[in-house]
Amino acid sequence: MRGNLLDVKNLKVVFYTYRGVIKALNGVELWMNHGERLGVIGETGCGKSVTSLSIMGLIEQPGEIVEGNVYFEGKSMQKMNSSVLYDMRGKEISMIFQEPVSALNPVMKVGFQIAESIARTKKISIKSAYPDVFKMLELVGLDAGRVINLYPHELSGGMAQRAMIAMALSSHPKLLIADEPTSALDVTIQAQIMKLLDDLVSEMGNAVILITHDMGVAAEFCDKIAVMYAGNVVEYASTTDIFDEPLHPYTKGLLKAVPRVGQSKELVGIPGTVPDLVNPPSGCRFHPRCSHAMKICAEELPPLFEVKQGHYVACHLYTREGEHDGNRSKI
Ligand SMILES: Nc1ncnc2c1ncn2[C@@H]1O[C@H](COP(=O)(O)OP(=O)(O)OP(=O)(O)O)[C@@H](O)[C@H]1O
Ligand code: SF4
Ligand SMILES: [Mg+2]
Repeated sequence: MRGNLLDVKNLKVVFYTYRGVIKALNGVELWMNHGERLGVIGETGCGKSVTSLSIMGLIEQPGEIVEGNVYFEGKSMQKMNSSVLYDMRGKEISMIFQEPVSALNPVMKVGFQIAESIARTKKISIKSAYPDVFKMLELVGLDAGRVINLYPHELSGGMAQRAMIAMALSSHPKLLIADEPTSALDVTIQAQIMKLLDDLVSEMGNAVILITHDMGVAAEFCDKIAVMYAGNVVEYASTTDIFDEPLHPYTKGLLKAVPRVGQSKELVGIPGTVPDLVNPPSGCRFHPRCSHAMKICAEELPPLFEVKQGHYVACHLYTREGEHDGNRSKI
């Protein structure tokens, strides 16, 4: 087992659509230990959300996991029956989303929703969950007495995200997945929410997967970074290694697109566009955009390979045998 909390092995997910079969995940490899913070970065459509939904056991029609597996604390999630998975969600793994207001049920009071979630994970009555609701709302900096009786549309975006965080952390999950938790919020509120998350998970010791487009946030918040491109993790290393010594041509391109690390900037600037995953490029899916592309790149998908201790790269430039052999000539 590569991580004592989570090990995602060769995960392949497809979506059956009217346009054809979208090959969304193409053999994702990812692992993490208890208490670690992993940042997942990459351009839009590269599979960040599908990866996190797979980890939550939430891939549903028209999607399907066609190969590979997700192991949580060594147990195969694919082999769990739906009631075990349902119990795990919320209790062991919980998730916060980009749009907190729409993630909450619009017709139920915020307090009731959090109470219901606590009651489900702790297997207690909704009534007896209310003291915990108060505690959690205060912990995330909300006026519990007031917020408990409000409906989601009565909350600002920042308040709603605080309420989501209260709900997600109320069961002290081993893993919190935050899928772009601040990108729908104002810049000043973004920083407050990240600080709140940072404080809470530091105290509780939860592992976190943070999906973000913001390299500055990833650099500050995460211990490790996984860079995804078109359905694969193409580089995986400590945050320091990723920012100080990026190896994959795609990661280098991403970092070049951000003028200064630590400054919030959208990811822009790599020539070309993300491929259509109904007909993805053969071999390394980055090859049509890569200035280092060789013949082998269009023929073989490079495996994620440990180039130096703890630094993994999926690129034919880095192989056990060395850089160039017979079919590694430039195209
Ligand atoms: N329910 C769905 N039906 C059809 N295709 C889907 C579905 N969900 C995801 N996909 C496809 O799977 C691929 C990966 O999508 P995903 O949402 O994981 O990207 P992402 O990296 O989270 O992007 P973003 O940064 O925009 O959130 C995309 O090609 C997307 O169109
Ligand atoms: S495998 Fe080839 S195309 Fe892909 S990133 Fe490496 S050099 Fe570029
Ligand atoms: Mg997404």
